[in-house]
Amino acid sequence: MNNPMNNDNVNTVPDAPHGEDVANADDAATRSETGEPIIRFEKVVKKFGDVTVLDELDFEVRKGEKVTIIGPSGSGKSTVLRILMTLENINDGVIYVTGRPLWHEEKNGELVPASEEHLREMRKEMGMVFQQFNLFPHMTVRRNVTEAPVQVLKLSKDEANERADKYLELVGLSDQSDKFPSQLSGGQQQRVAIARALAMRPNIMLFDEPTSSLDPELVGEVLNVIQRLAEEHDLTMLLVTHEMQFAKQISDRVCFFDKGKIVEQGTPDEVLVNPQEPRTQEFLKSFIEQH
Ligand SMILES: Nc1ncnc2c1ncn2[C@@H]1O[C@H](COP(=O)(O)OP(=O)(O)OP(=O)(O)O)[C@@H](O)[C@H]1O
Ligand SMILES: [Mg+2]
Repeated sequence: MNNPMNNDNVNTVPDAPHGEDVANADDAATRSETGEPIIRFEKVVKKFGDVTVLDELDFEVRKGEKVTIIGPSGSGKSTVLRILMTLENINDGVIYVTGRPLWHEEKNGELVPASEEHLREMRKEMGMVFQQFNLFPHMTVRRNVTEAPVQVLKLSKDEANERADKYLELVGLSDQSDKFPSQLSGGQQQRVAIARALAMRPNIMLFDEPTSSLDPELVGEVLNVIQRLAEEHDLTMLLVTHEMQFAKQISDRVCFFDKGKIVEQGTPDEVLVNPQEPRTQEFLKSFIEQH
């Protein structure tokens, strides 16, 4: 395996925290059909006021699967990720992550709304990378990466620094650790954001249009890091993107969302090359015309 971290930290992403095996792209073909679900939405409803944003959504992601969500603006793509990251609550339905209800807890055989403690625990399963990076502007790059491991995971400063070194190396920013976000390019900032998410050693990585606010010449460096993560680590990845070529390369499955529902899903070839649903065909046609 051609891993950029060719020493004992090779296993930092895939091994932690639940001892997953290192996988490679050869597994991708079977992953969609055979892996166990690590995320399951069951009839999930999300409303903002009177507007139903997710409409009894059923959705599953299997362990290690790389799933891309595409769809028009307002179709609910970010909402799916934000709900998983526990940034938005749901109105109805149940979501399971690693077999445990995310927004509920089981009490006396019944599902009741989750406590803050349960949500904090579940949040550790996931790391999220946002379109706008969302780095802490007053902290150095290193501190951005060590902050949550120290505060949330209670790692010692030394342990957290060791992790920061590993993940900053993974994203190619070892030499930038003492800088502040404002001193970095957008592509570098986004790579810090990826390192920061990985430093919590999540099982699931959520990417919400990670390259949409980058200058075109900086998109490639961020996509390269994500692609390497996808190929070399058995992370489960859920990615919202408009980079169709990239989606085609890294996804086991592509889901086309419209109006809070999955209209069509399948392999990248099925959805992006030979879409069956008129709505998907229209979306891709107008997308190609605009780009
Ligand atoms: N906090 C909020 N309050 C009210 N409405 C919201 C909120 N967040 C999202 N919405 C609405 O929910 C719908 C879905 O939003 P969401 O951000 O999930 O769409 P999206 O598919 O990610 O779109 P885009 O491609 O523009 O990012 C939109 O109509 C949006 O205006
Ligand atoms: Mg969005």
